[in-house]
Order: sequence, then C-alpha cells, then structure tokens
Amino acid sequence: MPTPGNLILREAYQPLAYGVETVDLDFNLDPQATVVTSRLKCVRNPDAAAGPVVLFGEALELVSIAIDGAAPAEGQVRKTESGLEVNVSADEVVLTIVTRINPSANLTLSGLYQSRGGFYTQCEAEGFRRITYFPDRPDVMARYTVRLEADAATCPVLLSNGNLLETGTLPNGRHFARWEDPFLKPSYLFALVAAELSALERTVTTMSGRDVLLQVWVEARDLDRVEHAMDSLIHSMRWDEEVFGLELDLDRFMIVAVSDFNMGAMENKGLNIFNTKYVLANPDTGTDLDFENVESVVAHEYFHNWTGNRVTCRDWFQLTLKEGLTVFRDQQFTADMMARASDSPAAAASARAVTRIANVRGLRSGQFPEDAGPMAHPIRPDSYQEINNFYTATVYQKGAEVIRMILTLLGREGFRNGMDLYFSYHDGQAVTCDDFVGCMAEANGADLDLFMRWYSQAGTPRLKAEGAWDAATGTYTLTLSQSTPPTPGQPEKLPLHIPVAVGLIGPDGADLPLRLEGEANAGDTTRVLNLKEASRSWRFTGLAAEPVPSVLRGYSAPVILEIDEDDERLAFRMAHDADPFNRWDAAQRFMERVVLGLAADAAAGRKLEVPQAFGHAFRALLVNESLDPAFVAETLALPSEAYLLERMQPADPAPLRAALIHLMREVGQAMQADFLGRYLDLEVEGEYRYHPADAGKRSLRNLCLRYLAAWGGPTAIDLAAKQFEHAGNMTERYGALAALVQSDAPQRTEALAAFHDRYRDDALVLDKWFMLQATAWRWSDAAPTTLDQVRALMANPAFSLSNPNKVYSLLGGYFKSNAAEFHRPDGAGYAFWAEQVVALDRNNPQVASRMARALEGWRKFTPEIQARIRVALEQVAATEGLSPDVAEIVGKALG
Ligand code: TRP
Ligand code: ZN
Repeated sequence: MPTPGNLILREAYQPLAYGVETVDLDFNLDPQATVVTSRLKCVRNPDAAAGPVVLFGEALELVSIAIDGAAPAEGQVRKTESGLEVNVSADEVVLTIVTRINPSANLTLSGLYQSRGGFYTQCEAEGFRRITYFPDRPDVMARYTVRLEADAATCPVLLSNGNLLETGTLPNGRHFARWEDPFLKPSYLFALVAAELSALERTVTTMSGRDVLLQVWVEARDLDRVEHAMDSLIHSMRWDEEVFGLELDLDRFMIVAVSDFNMGAMENKGLNIFNTKYVLANPDTGTDLDFENVESVVAHEYFHNWTGNRVTCRDWFQLTLKEGLTVFRDQQFTADMMARASDSPAAAASARAVTRIANVRGLRSGQFPEDAGPMAHPIRPDSYQEINNFYTATVYQKGAEVIRMILTLLGREGFRNGMDLYFSYHDGQAVTCDDFVGCMAEANGADLDLFMRWYSQAGTPRLKAEGAWDAATGTYTLTLSQSTPPTPGQPEKLPLHIPVAVGLIGPDGADLPLRLEGEANAGDTTRVLNLKEASRSWRFTGLAAEPVPSVLRGYSAPVILEIDEDDERLAFRMAHDADPFNRWDAAQRFMERVVLGLAADAAAGRKLEVPQAFGHAFRALLVNESLDPAFVAETLALPSEAYLLERMQPADPAPLRAALIHLMREVGQAMQADFLGRYLDLEVEGEYRYHPADAGKRSLRNLCLRYLAAWGGPTAIDLAAKQFEHAGNMTERYGALAALVQSDAPQRTEALAAFHDRYRDDALVLDKWFMLQATAWRWSDAAPTTLDQVRALMANPAFSLSNPNKVYSLLGGYFKSNAAEFHRPDGAGYAFWAEQVVALDRNNPQVASRMARALEGWRKFTPEIQARIRVALEQVAATEGLSPDVAEIVGKALG
C-alpha cells in the first residue's frame, strides 16, 4: 500500500510568522538550466506566533541564499521536508535566493515548463514553489517586479504580470524585458511567458474613460482564430462594468494560448494563460459549442480579476470563495448574452432557460456522482491530501449553485449591495467564505447562519414533495421534506436552508395565481418557499380544482427532487409547465423512467418496448414550431449516461446501453417523417455566424440527424453523408460525423478518414476526432471493440501521452464517457486503465489523477463489476512511487 499523503486540515490554519512585502524576480531562461534570482523583503507578521521565515520549495536546485546581503550563519538556514526555514531575529529581512531549474524536463505542467519551444508558467495552486523558494500560500500577498532574459530568436516575446517597464537587447543573441505589477498578489497569480507568438490587439475605453490595451497572443498560424476570444473579452469587460460596476484596473490585459495545459485556463494577474481549446475558434474549426465555451472561459478568467485576484482566498480550503462565485458570474454572463441576442421577451426567457439547462446537466452528470462517491466533500472541504484533487465539480459547480441560492434569497439589488460591501471591506485581502456570506448578510440585514451549512455539509440533499387536495375547501397542501444521505466522514446530516420555487398549474395548463393561507390576495404564479426544517407544509387556498404542482422551478436549489408523478402528469407538464426549466425537467424525468425501465427489461431478457405515452409526449415537442429550437433540442436529448448510471441501482452499463440504443433506434424509426420534416425546415441560410438563434437551429437539426442515423434507414444515412460532405462550418460537419459514428452505417469509416485527412495538422480538431471514436457506442456486434480502437489510436502520430488535451479526448473519452465499452465484462478496460494511470503518473500526476477518478464511483455497480474493478484499483494502489494525487484517489476509493 502507498503511504497515505499528509492530511492537511482546514482547522489547522495558522498565519505565517513572516510575510513578504516585495518580490523582485530575475529569470535567465534556458531550456535545461534556467537560473532564477529572487529578492524577498520579508516582514514579521504582528498577528502571528513567532517563528522562522518558512519557504516552500519543490524540484529545485538551491544555488545560493543570502540574508541581508550576507552568507547565512551556521544553522541559520534549515532544510525541511517541504523547503527551507530561515531563522532571523529582525522584524524585516531581505533574502536573496538563487535556484536552478530545468523547464524542458518538467512534464508536470506545474511551475515553469516548455511547450512547443516556448516557456510558460502555471502556479495555481502550488506551482510557484517549483520555481523558487517562497512562502507559497495565498495569504501571502506581495508586490512583484520581474526581469526576463531569453534567447531573442526562439523567444521574441517576453511577458509577465502588470505593466511593461523596459525592454532591451543583450550580447549573444539574448534580450530582456522588465515588468511591474502595481497590485498586491499571492504567488499563485504570478505568470511569465517567453515564446514566439503574435497578438491580436485592441484598445478600448473603460467606464471611467481610461484607454486600455487588450492582447490575445497565439502562434502566428492561429491568428485567424482569435477574433472571437477578443470579442468575448470585450463583452466580459462591459458586462462586469454594467452589472457589478467593476472595471479593469490595469492599462494592459493579455491572454496567451498554450497547447500543453492541465486545465481550461488561468487567471494570472493581467496575463491570463489559456489552453488553446478555450481561445481558438473559427467557423471552419470550432463548433457552436466551442464558441460558447471560449466565450464563457474568457469571461470566467476575466471575472476572476475581482473575484479571486483583488480579493483572494486565505487558504485553499476557501477555493469556492473565488471559484463558485466566478462560475456563478460566468453563468449569469452567458445567460445575459444569450438573452440579449434574442428578439422577443419570450425568446429571451427561453434562451436563459437553455443556459440554465446546460448548467444543470453539467451538475447532474459531473457533480452528483462526485457527491455520491468516496471523494464527496462540502464546497468548503475540511481536509485534503493533495489540493490539486479539489478543483472539483463540487467546489466549482455546486459552489456556483450555492451563490445562486444567495441571489434567490436576497434578490438582484440585495445581492449587488452585498458584492459592493464585500469589495469595500476586503479589497486587497485574502479572506474566507464566512467573510463573503457575512457581507451578503450585513448588506441585507439577512440571517444566513443556517444557510452556511451548505458550506460544511457534503452530499446531494433529497427533497421530497407531496401534495394533498381538499376539494371541500379548495385547498392544496404541499409538504416538503429533506434528507441528505451520509457521506464519508459525515454519517449524520442536518437540515439545510433550501429555497424551493413553486408554481401550481391549473387543469387548462395555465399557471394559477398563488395565495397562501392567511394572505389577503393572490400574488405571482411562482413563489419561493424557504424550507429550513426536516419537513414543513404550505397551504394554498382559493383553488377551484386540483392543481398540478411544479416544484423547484428554475432548479432553485442543487437537490434531487423526489415527487410521485405518473406518466400522464409528466406528459402534462412537458406540454404546459410555464417554467421552461421544469418543462425540460419533466421530459428528462419521463425519459429517465423509460430508459431505466428498458434497461431492467434488457437485464431480465425481456422484450424491449417503448411506451406509447412517451412517444406521444416526445413527438408533441418535436413538432412544436412555436418553441425555440434550442430548447426543443434540449428537451429531446437523452439524459447523460453518467447521470443515468447514478439513478440505476445497482448500476449496470451493458443493459443501460442496450436500452439507450433501442430507444434511439425506435424513436428514430417511428418518427422519421417528423425528424426529416424539422431537419429540412431548420436549415440555416447564409454565412456562418455564432448566434444563439442560428446555433439553436443547428443544434435541433443535428439532433434530428442523430435519431435518424440511429434508426439507420438509407435515406437517413444518405442525409448524414450529404451534410458531412457539403457542410459549410464545423458545427454541421461535426454534427454529421457524430451522427454517422453513432450508427452502424458503413459510411462511418470513410467519413472518419476524410475528417482526419482534412484536419491532419490541426491538433484541436483532431481532439474531436479522437474523442468521437473513444466515446462511440457499438451499434453492431461486428464492429471492433472500442478498447481495440483506443489502443490503435494511441499509436497515431498525432496522439501524445504528454499532451493533456489528447489524453482527455482519447483516454478520458473512453474511461468517462463510454461506460458500456469501458466496463466490458472481461475486465480488459480496467487493466488498460491501470496501465495508463500508472504511465501518466510518472510524468503528470494532475492528469493521471483525473483519469484515476474514472473508477472512484465503483461501488454503485453490480457485485460482479465491483469485484473486477477492485483488482485494478488495488493494482494501482500497490504501485511503487505513486504521486500523492493518484494515491489520494485510489486510497479513498478503496478506503
Ligand atoms: N483557477 C483556474 C480557473 O478557475 C483553475 C486552474 C487552472 C488550475 N490551471 C490550474 C487549478 C492548474 C489547478 C492546477 O480556471
Ligand atoms: Zn476559476
């Protein structure tokens, strides 16, 4: 067994004895031997217990250290397991530290590393300590100056945080630049880039009338793909000014795209570094979804400038302080952008709902499984072994839901007042989640004490809704009850403050004005009920007939709603629920019931039959031309397999897959005329533009094509092949390819080959090609197994185990988005998983750990499957020299 890594506890937080006031860094950049000279002005912290200057360091060669310009006395500098301790008696001391590092050998992509000949840094969470010895914690905020020196030919562009002070040439083909960041920052926001890049530039004027320079830096060949990222940046700036009164605080703001990156992007002060996947998009290479993702990630990182950078986290347990809040902000931004592009209030409401649906889909398929497994943690965890394992769906997505509930409780204006107060109190500080919620409460005179439990309790709460109709008095009693299942380390759960938005639908399908017992008049048609106890009832009066409840409208809280609705009632809400989110959710619930029913039939060897009532409800939405196509596409798309596996007890991927294939084939065949009709009607004329109206049509069109190809009739396959051949943009080309790949049409092979040839030199587009094959279902027993395909694709020259995007597409696609193939009964998928996790872990523990997480939810499966998975987990756990990242995941899985 591996030694369990050190457990870090939230309760153990102590401020350091010495902080840092100023940091002057000098980088002499060289691929194998970069010399870093750091001059730290360290200052005693009056609020901390006495102690040495504590410096963290990892994978560093210490060349020299001087204390106030002199060599240290014997024993004054002590090497520790995590770095150095320097004993000093003065309140202020200047340390000059020289380290040597090897960026070309750094495959972790944390610290200073190389990508395609350039130098890049990634310091969050603890990468700065891989560059130099430093008190590398977010509560140490300092002012930085940076001097970079590098080869002028290979690294003509030299960037760091803040403002450029000076550039110049040096002997031997070298050159230098000096940068200064006027704002206090923690070390995790430090960044440098030295590479051969070109920029798209714009100058814009901020709300206070300052001109600022915006740059998006990419390789020259990618300059035809950066317009959209630049537009997104400008939209983000405007939105933050308008909605929160927050302005860009620097004279220059830079985005840099890099091909080798562990995550999506990083909000370094004034110098955001992005995975190319979230910068580059043009109509020929990016789908509508790619355009949307670029817009939201650009916004996310830009918004961090205030929520994260100006006000940062005291310690890493507070991560959701910046991430939950910033995800919430980027989700609101996307919804506003979608609504703004709509041409009527109804269209705007539908567009907002589509954004909300996408967010909730992500939560259900990514966060719910996490909350139900061995890694379950509150949005503010109490302990961790490796902080990199806690950049999770819980901290990000559930964290955003928690902020959204605060908005629901306080209203728009109240929320804005709370934000204003937060910045007025804490600008330039490193704070906690309590500080944030405290400002929200103070600005509104609200009591959020009970609400704080959302920060400490893990697990997805179950919300049970039961209605009782009393015809004699015209009263409808709604009883809401809550419970949260135990999670590791939290056997007992307490009631939470859950805002539940509720509406009542009359027999004619129209919403009823709501009047609670004791109220003089009926009010709005949606009401937020505040459930604060284990169970409570509300009585609605003045009703002429029994209503149909619509509970948790807009998904007002991140819970699982348990409500007893028969097929007829679900069909009714699919047709009439005035809340578009709940209308979508009714369709999802109906599909879930049908799919899980078919899966049970498949497991028992019974004949599979799609219920007629479901077909009718489905078709009614498909042919409803008064609905926004984007919304219809969401309602007709199946729930994700990951979510369905959570709902299936015990989870069994093979019959589930059989059910999904059967359903798609049957529906595709039964409604072929309707799918075809809508497909033909929805064609988008004219040149491609990224616009929600066009994107919605393309989305529904591609969905129709998917069902048709699943059915597999010759007209359907012909249609897909034609769309593939004549597509004018990537959304249509990829949509057609995906439809062919998710079918047993012989044309799938040809289309894959053609796609590969067209984009053979395009890394990002090839990621799609790898992903499609890794996630493909097997529509006929004659097809080669996905495992064989994945193994073969690893030998493709375009694949590389050291590029995270490639690993996420091919291996991540197979491990995380192809359950039936990965969980094949012979266990070969697990053996392959173990082999790849161990191989990845030698070079890049963060990426290895992400892949390792694919099996953490193993206890939800049937006993036979569990037995096979255990073997693989134990094999990885027993591996010599495992990183703390992977050790934590497999340790908790087995624990
Ligand atoms: N702060 C980054 C974000 O919110 C996350 C991030 C980027 C990150 N790169 C990382 C986290 C590397 C851990 C390690 O988008
Ligand atoms: Zn973030």
